[in-house]
Amino acid sequence: MHLVHFEQSPLQGRLDPEALLAEMQVRFEGRADELIPMLQCVQKALGFLPEQILLEIARLTRLPAARVFGTATFYSQFRLQPVGKYIIRVCRGTACHVKGSGRILDDIQGYLQVAPGRTTQDGLFTLETVACFGSCALAPILVINERVYGSTNRSKALRLLSDMRGG
Ligand code: FES
Repeated sequence: MHLVHFEQSPLQGRLDPEALLAEMQVRFEGRADELIPMLQCVQKALGFLPEQILLEIARLTRLPAARVFGTATFYSQFRLQPVGKYIIRVCRGTACHVKGSGRILDDIQGYLQVAPGRTTQDGLFTLETVACFGSCALAPILVINERVYGSTNRSKALRLLSDMRGG
């Protein structure tokens, strides 16, 4: 079977996309009802869904590309853009807001020079906001990858990021 050639992005590389597609042909039969598991498989391996892979999945499943892209964009679990090494999530819920999460977010945006939903050019940080992280007693909350930082403040947040950037 023909495999498309992928440009290697410095942000991806958790797994080679061509190797991933080859593995998917073993794991999946290419049925239409496998679309979501296939998308989940790519998301898990690469951290996002590259456009070329979505086109290849459309070809494999014989589904219209619009259906594959529509599914990928409909579910919030899927990302169409690569993410940084560190995913920074600032809680924007009421408890965190009252305790200054808005200013923390402003500072982080200024420091990283990216808006929520975007990744820094060096591929190190992706900035996101969450509606409520569910740990309001520890407000304001900052989450970096899987690690939760409670009762944070502006200087703590910037120090963490600067440490991750290497000083
Ligand atoms: S409002 Fe931030 S954890 Fe609930």
